[in-house]
Amino acid sequence: MEQELKKLREETDKRIEKIKDSAALNKLYLNLFGASGSFTKLLKTLKTLPAEKRPAVGKLANEIKKQIEDKFSRQRSIIEKVKIDEWLDVTAPGLPPQIGHLHIVTQAISEISRIFERVGFTRVRYPEVEYEWYAFESLNMPANHPARDDFETFFLDTPSIPKMGQLVLSPHTSSGQVREMKRLKKPPIRMINIAKCYRPNWDISHTPMFHQFEGLVVDTGINITHLKGTMDYFAREFFGKDRKTRLRPFHFQFTEPSFEVDISCGVCLGKGKLTDGNNCRFCKDGWLELGGSGMVHPNVLKMGNIDPVKYSGFAFGWGVERTYMMKSGTKLDDIRLLYSNDIRFLEQF
Ligand code: DAH
Repeated sequence: MEQELKKLREETDKRIEKIKDSAALNKLYLNLFGASGSFTKLLKTLKTLPAEKRPAVGKLANEIKKQIEDKFSRQRSIIEKVKIDEWLDVTAPGLPPQIGHLHIVTQAISEISRIFERVGFTRVRYPEVEYEWYAFESLNMPANHPARDDFETFFLDTPSIPKMGQLVLSPHTSSGQVREMKRLKKPPIRMINIAKCYRPNWDISHTPMFHQFEGLVVDTGINITHLKGTMDYFAREFFGKDRKTRLRPFHFQFTEPSFEVDISCGVCLGKGKLTDGNNCRFCKDGWLELGGSGMVHPNVLKMGNIDPVKYSGFAFGWGVERTYMMKSGTKLDDIRLLYSNDIRFLEQF
């Protein structure tokens, strides 16, 4: 009888392993342990054994029954697990779709546009691939003028055409100044030109493609106070009420006088020193440099067919990325991150 029990266990083990659904498993269980099951029948023969053998064989029979039952429950859990994996709860809430947002440079561009539109500026865009004439000559930088070197430029491999020169990737949005004068033909002009610009630089504060926003106002009686007032207005709106601007004398060919516009530092609030007495690491003496500006040079007005005796104007041109980096709370220490397409970086804004 011992042999028969062991044989039954081996055969049953093999059969259980092959079973893939619970109904077949239950059936096999009944075939073994049901009233007329093979194990039950075998157990009934126990009483035919000599009395002294019965306890040992009885014990073996119990062990084998337990082993077979364990095998059944292991197989049942394997079958059940497959079922869970295939199971679909149609009432479960769906996976929320990932919501994207505009790139921070695009956000900054719309914010800047809105700030200037509120005081009567019109947003325009001019070509990224531009004639040399608009990028330089029209801005009081004749051919071979050394000031052109300040604007390192990508030249397109195209033949130079009379007056207009070669095609370039516009190195600044100032190229749009005379285009706007020609478009409107006559002042008043209140332009905000925001566009891509290109210069061959690549380091923590430069990318070969970047954005600038260029303001141009031309009308009768425009003077430096209008320029300063507009700078202060922008600084308050974009950076916050507690920020101020200052004009520092500078040189540009297309403005006279020319200035660099600085903004009071948002970290030390223009003091240059932190509350612990140490120098502010974020700025120089409390100020950060925003970009260029000035009163439109008479030669530039003439290029746009505007009479410089009757009209005057101011202009400014700043980098969008640079300006955005100066907004307090933006801890952006490498401008190239903006164009690295790293979703983990972009999701923060
Ligand atoms: N175009 C100059 C640059 O890219 C910036 C600039 C300076 C623009 C003075 C202006 C201006 O309109 O008046 O560096």
